[in-house]
Amino acid sequence: MEQEIRTLFWQDGAVVMIDQRALPLAERQVICTDYHEVIAAIKDLTVRGAPAIGVAAALGIALGARRIEAPTSAAFLNAFEEICRQFAATRPTARNLFWAIERMSRCVAEALQARLPKPKGLASGISFVEIMSPSAPARPAEKEEGDSWQPVRETLVAEAVRIGDEDVAINRRLGRNGSELIPEGSRILTHCNAGALATAGYGTALGVLRAAREAGKAIHVYVDETRPVLQGARLTAWELMREGIPCTLITDNMAGFLMRQGKIDLVITGADRIAANGDAANKIGTYALAVLARAHDIPFLIAAPLSTIDPALPDGDAIPIEERDPGEVTHCGGVRIAPEGIDVYNPAFDMTPHALITAIVTEAGILRSPFAEAIEKLSPSSSTD
Ligand code: MRU
Repeated sequence: MEQEIRTLFWQDGAVVMIDQRALPLAERQVICTDYHEVIAAIKDLTVRGAPAIGVAAALGIALGARRIEAPTSAAFLNAFEEICRQFAATRPTARNLFWAIERMSRCVAEALQARLPKPKGLASGISFVEIMSPSAPARPAEKEEGDSWQPVRETLVAEAVRIGDEDVAINRRLGRNGSELIPEGSRILTHCNAGALATAGYGTALGVLRAAREAGKAIHVYVDETRPVLQGARLTAWELMREGIPCTLITDNMAGFLMRQGKIDLVITGADRIAANGDAANKIGTYALAVLARAHDIPFLIAAPLSTIDPALPDGDAIPIEERDPGEVTHCGGVRIAPEGIDVYNPAFDMTPHALITAIVTEAGILRSPFAEAIEKLSPSSSTD
């Protein structure tokens, strides 16, 4: 078996990532030494896939924090929050991006709190928020803080690296849970890329298929090419072939015919954001597959970590859907395929209502209808154990 794919990682003070724009024609890495380069890489799909975007943002925020020079904790926090705002403006649909920013924000708050001298005159239990409040009187100790940000920076790097490592472990757990739903000899349709490349490693939907293979099951994967960016043809096909997992590439408009021919036993995709009622946003085209699967009585599975679930959103209609550059539709492989001046609509994601989803596979177990109840029961600790 080929060496395991590690999509992105921290190395010698830089964020290193596989250049997903170049695959499968070239296997190369992009090395980011400035956080603006990580932001650009998220926007231009050098790194993509919701969990990978979250890990990239965490590493990028840590990278940015290494350059913060600030005279006080409040000034450090201001600069940190500005970096987070820039990451938050990259890709609106991926819940894991915001989850990672929230986690890095909690980490910096704790790290800054930890380095504050224990003031003798202050009542114990005083909160960091109170100390950082603009109305709080400046304290003499703050004047010296600018010299000693190194421990905070190191804490942030360690947290970002941990988020990446945890992502791989979570995907392995999720994969083992989901492999139970993959019968021996199954023919499986997948859309987009929810593989190692879409995560820090191992993958979500493809993680389930990897785990099924590791459990000794024979499977055959049909890969939707996934217009307009072709994550299926370029990335999923590359990943599966690299590991010798039997697969066949089809164009998106062939899926219904294959189902009618009885060639598909189940559909599995990832998700970019899941609302509190189980509605799931995923790559454009997923909704059509779920409708087709229902029409042909084929199970439709979603595989995603708990960090993709957004319990604050009541349903999928509240999920922000990213619209991308029309050039992704008018061009293919850099070649124009549509007339100059044509009007284009390019939503990058669609939303599959929970009623069309058979099960959602997570690291905490398999969620089934009624999804709202199943999601509500999940404790926050389920994602970090
Ligand atoms: O635009 P992308 O490539 O970042 O979109 C990614 C997806 O929609 C994937 O299908 C995936 O399921 C979510 S990440 C595991």
